[in-house]
Amino acid sequence: MNLFDVYPRFNINITHANGIHVYDESNQEYLDLYGGHGVISIGHTHPHYVKTITDQLNKIGFYSNSIEMPIQEQLAQKLGELSGYTDYDLFLSNSGAEANENALKLASFHTGKTKVVAFKNAFHGRTAATLNVTDNPKISAPINQNNFPVEFLDLNDFDALENVLKANDVAAVIVEGIQGVGGLDMPTDAFLQHIEKMCEQYGTVFIMDEIQCGYGRSGKFFAHQHAGVKPHLISTAKGMGNGFPIGGVLISPEIKPWAGMLGTTFGGNHLACAAALAVLEVIESEKLMANAAEVGQQLTEAWSAIPQVKTVKGKGLMLGVELDFPIKDIRNKILKEYHIFTGSASNPNVLRILPPLTIQFNDIEPFTNALKELLEA
Ligand SMILES: Cc1ncc(COP(=O)(O)O)c(C=O)c1O
Repeated sequence: MNLFDVYPRFNINITHANGIHVYDESNQEYLDLYGGHGVISIGHTHPHYVKTITDQLNKIGFYSNSIEMPIQEQLAQKLGELSGYTDYDLFLSNSGAEANENALKLASFHTGKTKVVAFKNAFHGRTAATLNVTDNPKISAPINQNNFPVEFLDLNDFDALENVLKANDVAAVIVEGIQGVGGLDMPTDAFLQHIEKMCEQYGTVFIMDEIQCGYGRSGKFFAHQHAGVKPHLISTAKGMGNGFPIGGVLISPEIKPWAGMLGTTFGGNHLACAAALAVLEVIESEKLMANAAEVGQQLTEAWSAIPQVKTVKGKGLMLGVELDFPIKDIRNKILKEYHIFTGSASNPNVLRILPPLTIQFNDIEPFTNALKELLEA
């Protein structure tokens, strides 16, 4: 049997990893400035993470949501403390798309409405509802299109948002704190505050997709916390499990549950919760949010000073280096000649940088030097 050939892959076989580095079968070291799509939050094979998961697996790896799950409650408690959302509830799933799918469903249950406002260049996942609110017809099959009405607006268009919401038929506004796949564009703080106000005024649920930009990556626990807003629903995944599949929705106390409203077989299993708890414990004990803020600021200054760099977008350790031309060749050379993983975006001129939150400014010097050399060549 062959693999269904949907992934363009680099010709590299990563066999082991440690901290900010990954290694291939011949032990060639690579600096990981991409963390496998922004997933590695506390570094590869962190000893506390490995021990916590191993200990849990030796006790029990999985049982379904038909029994009591104190480890889920422990996770909810810790996530509430670190994020500041102590009064919210948590629903656990296995991936980012599922988290958003459940968030959209909750908004529709809560409001009884079907229309959703999303933004151009957004990416919210590849399930039915999430593809319908993702602005990319190429990855959307006919079955995913128009299964409920969606308006795609420009980010930061205040008037367009109010014009749509005032019809009072919108279930949810969904927005990323920092656009990941799209290329690191951001809603302004004022625009997020406007969304919050409009949603309150017109009975619409405000969903923040924090799947890529959340979990400390922006320098605060959630990227929207830079704007001081409080959405009704917050979706998380990626960095939540540092590679162990887990996602979740933080749910405002205004939205009430009923038995059977949502459900999943694997979501919130013992092993996933152990992984997610270890991640939060390391984020807290190693002060990774403060590190992300500080190193992100230093990198933004350093890269903005390179004359050929047009802009540095993003916040904390979710950054995009924008050039005046496509980054494809430079990204390939950085990988093949300098052994550094970076990411691309749907904006072809943006190099996406999503390193583990443990990284230090000096660790990134090889990348900065490589970028300068290649841009000067
Ligand atoms: C902002 C955002 N939302 C949702 C998703 C979907 O997450 P997953 O691939 O875990 O389903 C992604 C994945 O890249 C993402 O970046």
